[in-house]
Amino acid sequence: MAAYGAPLNVKGAVSMAVLRLRHVTQFFLRSGGGLVEAVSDVSLIIPAQQFVCLIGPSGCGKTTLLQLVAGLIPYSRGEIDVDGAEVVGPSPDRGLVFQRDSVFPWMRVIENAAYGLKCRGVSKDKRLDTARAYLRQVGLGNVERSWPRELSGGMLKRVAVATVFANSPKVLLLDEPFGSLDYVTKLQLHQVLLNLWSRYKPTVLFVTHDVDEAMLLADRIVVMKDGRLVDDRQITLPRPRTVESLALPEAVNHKEVLLRHLGLGDLVRTGLISQ
Ligand SMILES: Nc1ncnc2c1ncn2[C@@H]1O[C@H](COP(=O)(O)OP(=O)(O)OP(=O)(O)O)[C@@H](O)[C@H]1O
Ligand SMILES: [Mg+2]
Repeated sequence: MAAYGAPLNVKGAVSMAVLRLRHVTQFFLRSGGGLVEAVSDVSLIIPAQQFVCLIGPSGCGKTTLLQLVAGLIPYSRGEIDVDGAEVVGPSPDRGLVFQRDSVFPWMRVIENAAYGLKCRGVSKDKRLDTARAYLRQVGLGNVERSWPRELSGGMLKRVAVATVFANSPKVLLLDEPFGSLDYVTKLQLHQVLLNLWSRYKPTVLFVTHDVDEAMLLADRIVVMKDGRLVDDRQITLPRPRTVESLALPEAVNHKEVLLRHLGLGDLVRTGLISQ
């Protein structure tokens, strides 16, 4: 596991990290008493550079699983590693974007984007150059001196994406990062994210409730229910994808199955599913 202050490739090299989870289980003690098994015996290997979306009904354990991979909470049982290095706590190797804004309101945009590099001891000139380069790549080159309060919700998400990529993560963990955005802004953010992913190729685990979002982004969609992985689907829709991709037979078929997994079987036409 890389330590804070370790040498860092600030140019953002292409990443080749494999994420492995073996028999991972997580219990929580409820405040009223009793145990909840939020994650149950999850095994998953995500090859280097793969973009995986994790989908499942509310309360099925998605955020818990992401937090375990991030090293924010210790797992009760099992093993998680990145390229063979066991996850024992947070690391800049594993970048995290939450649903709520991960932007510090008291720092200018460029200071936010450079913050991870500052924590790792990168010199001021170098970290500002790097932050500036990533802000340009997400279309925010013109607001680097602005305060977060001067930015729209979509622009703040762009700052969060630039910030996490500026840190050159091997693994990128995103928990419904665009859930609060309107349809158009969300599609724009998908392009921003996919452009950076195709350039630097971190291994991605992206949590979403949105079936269309998952199919526009993912190489693979894994489905979680009651703490367990219950489906694992390769998405072979050609890239670059567009909203028309969602009308292709493969996408329609995946969507029907995924909606059933989400408990929306009543909305799905009968007789059209081939699993
Ligand atoms: N710190 C905690 N203490 C006790 N129980 C917890 C804790 N964190 C999560 N849980 C429980 O674990 C289960 C899974 O929660 P989690 O937040 O991982 O679900 P989720 O799939 O992310 O849901 P959502 O889609 O609503 O965000 C739930 O039953 C939740 O109440
Ligand atoms: Mg959640």
